Amino acid sequence: MKLLILNGPNLNLLGTREPEKYGNKSFENYFSELQFKFRNIELSYDQTNIEGELINMIHNAREDFDGIILNAAAYTHTSVGIGDAVAAVETPVVEVHISNTFSREEFRHKSYISAVAKGIIVGFGLQSYDLAIQSFLNDKNE
Ligand code: DQA
Repeated sequence: MKLLILNGPNLNLLGTREPEKYGNKSFENYFSELQFKFRNIELSYDQTNIEGELINMIHNAREDFDGIILNAAAYTHTSVGIGDAVAAVETPVVEVHISNTFSREEFRHKSYISAVAKGIIVGFGLQSYDLAIQSFLNDKNE
């Protein structure tokens, strides 16, 4: 199984960015842990701060991956284009968030992705990504 983790804007700063909300670990370090834990599957990871690039990454993933784990970060709440990209590809997309967006500001309660995602995992810290991977593995074993 081949899964792609896509992170949106400001998530390149994980580890130093607002650690009380997002923790102290860089995504690169966490990704190495995921690769070790899930060494029986092919995991890839990419990040961009640019909306159109995120859309291109979703398009480009559609032939090569069995699933996408998407944290579109702030674009989640603003981007019709990213929601449309998720709807456009047949590859299942699980939306993840590190923080519980529903316990934060009202503008974070709206997502343009949720309605077209396979599912959403919100508020478990970095573990949200782990749970998303497990959801794909469970599907495969069903
Ligand atoms: C986030 C939540 C978003 O509201 C915020 O803009 C982010 C990170 C999360 O993972 O908790 O950048 O997607």
